[in-house]
This record gives sequence, structure tokens and C-alpha cells, in this order.
Amino acid sequence: MHITTIANQKGGVGKTTTSINLAVGIANAGKKVLLLDFDPQANTTSGLGASDEDAPSAYEALLDQTPIRECITKTRYENLDIIQANMDLSGVEIELAGKDDQILRLRNIMAPLKESGDYDFCIIDTPPSLGILMTSALAAADDVLIPLQCEWFGLEGLAKIVQVIFQIKETGSNPALELGGILMTMYDGRTNLSKSVVAEVEQYFAEEIYKTKVPRSVRISESPSHGLTIYEHDPGGVGAQAYRDVRDEYLRRYEALAK
Ligand SMILES: Nc1ncnc2c1ncn2[C@@H]1O[C@H](COP(=O)(O)OP(=O)(O)O)[C@@H](O)[C@H]1O
Ligand SMILES: [Mg+2]
Repeated sequence: MHITTIANQKGGVGKTTTSINLAVGIANAGKKVLLLDFDPQANTTSGLGASDEDAPSAYEALLDQTPIRECITKTRYENLDIIQANMDLSGVEIELAGKDDQILRLRNIMAPLKESGDYDFCIIDTPPSLGILMTSALAAADDVLIPLQCEWFGLEGLAKIVQVIFQIKETGSNPALELGGILMTMYDGRTNLSKSVVAEVEQYFAEEIYKTKVPRSVRISESPSHGLTIYEHDPGGVGAQAYRDVRDEYLRRYEALAK
């Protein structure tokens, strides 16, 4: 199981939208996918129409109350299971603070799942902060995909998260962590701003930046309120095509790595 964490400490940049549509996209391609909603706001959980009040979140597994496998629930999508989030998860920041293994706990509880072969991919959606949840998700991952909004403040945020990835590697929490990609979101090809932000990112991250840019699209922003992915909400639209292209690029990158 290859684990990709979707991270950016800024909110509203498309982490959740990308987590949902990438995970379902990969599942649609016939791969087995586990989606871990690691944000107490639970937008991925509700956006998938998966909110089951009784389902445990990863909080219970992190505190050794429930084995991680028992936290997994099925979704209505073939090949896609989820570990749901709920507000309990925010307690992790307090409960784990000060524990020696705080950052490695998620990595350790995921290890048996990773080795089991039950899933091909795990996508982790993270909250918009640099706290224990986010750093744990980086420590548990093989690589990070950073969604980046096409605006100037996005670039400042990028420098910060790249620094955090470097720290996670250097401190030994996860020396093998890779920057798997930078995905430009809410792209508007008619504006000079979008083009110049992309040019700036390309200058420093020519390899990492995804060729696909996710366009700003009302259809994409509407879809979670219907509990639908973009593939169902507007299958023929530019948003669905963009996320299919993101999925294809993601799988190509992964296959190139695996060789
Ligand atoms: N490509 C897009 N075009 C238009 N709206 C988008 C797009 N991607 C996400 N959104 C909307 O922007 C808001 C923030 O996106 P979200 O994925 O929740 O970001 P994050 O998880 O980083 O906070 C949501 O309302 C979402 O529906
Ligand atoms: Mg989110």
C-alpha cells in the first residue's frame, strides 16, 4: 500500500476536494483504495456522503482503543473504503502531546495495513494546521501531494510546507518521505495572476508540478453539498476531466517510482 498525504497548512486550497476526487478516481481505475480522513472537520467524510455517527475515527486507533482495521468502513464506491473523521480527532493534539512517539504513532498503527496488501493506495486528507495531526500524516506517508491555490499567498505557504517536509526527513521521523507533487488548483487561465503563480512554481519545482491544472469551477465547488464526486455531479465537465487527468498523472508517477 502506497501512502500519499495531501497536505498544505493553508485552508481552502483544495486538499479535501483533491483527496475525494483522487481517491475515487483511483478506485474507478480498479485499484483498492483506503481514504483516511484525518481532519476533525470531517469534510472528506461528509463530502463522500459517508457520515456514520457510530463509525470510529482514527482517534480511537491512535489511543489504542480500537484496532485500526475496525475503524474502516465501506463506502458506496467500489474499491474504496474510508476511515471517517469526527470532532473527536481534534483531541489527538492534546492526548498525544508530550508522548515520545506522538508523531510516529499513526505510522506504527498503519504499518500492518501497509504490509497486508489489502489496499493498493491510501490517501490521507489533513487539517489546515501544522499540528500533530498533520505532522503524523507526513511521518506515515511515502509521499506528499501539495495542492496549491493559484494566488500569491499560496507561494509563501509552499515554502513553509516544503520546510516542514525537510524537517520530518531530517529529524528521522520519516527519512524516506518524498515530495510527490504540487497540484495547482482553482486555476484561471484567463488571468495573469494564475499564469504567473504557475510560472513561479515551475521555476523551482519543474519536476514536482503536475502538468494538469485543476480549473476554478462552480461545478467542483457544488459537488460536496450533494455528497457527490465531480465524476457524478458533472461527468462531462472540465472539472471531472481535470481530476481524471490528475489521477492518470498520479498513477504514472507512482508506476515510474515502482520500477
Ligand atoms: N477547483 C475548484 N474550483 C472551485 N472551487 C473549488 C475548487 N476546489 C475546491 N473548491 C472549493 O473551495 C473550497 C475549499 O476547498 P477544500 O477542498 O475544502 O479545501 P481544503 O480542504 O484545503 O480546506 C470548498 O468550498 C471547495 O468546494
Ligand atoms: Mg479540507
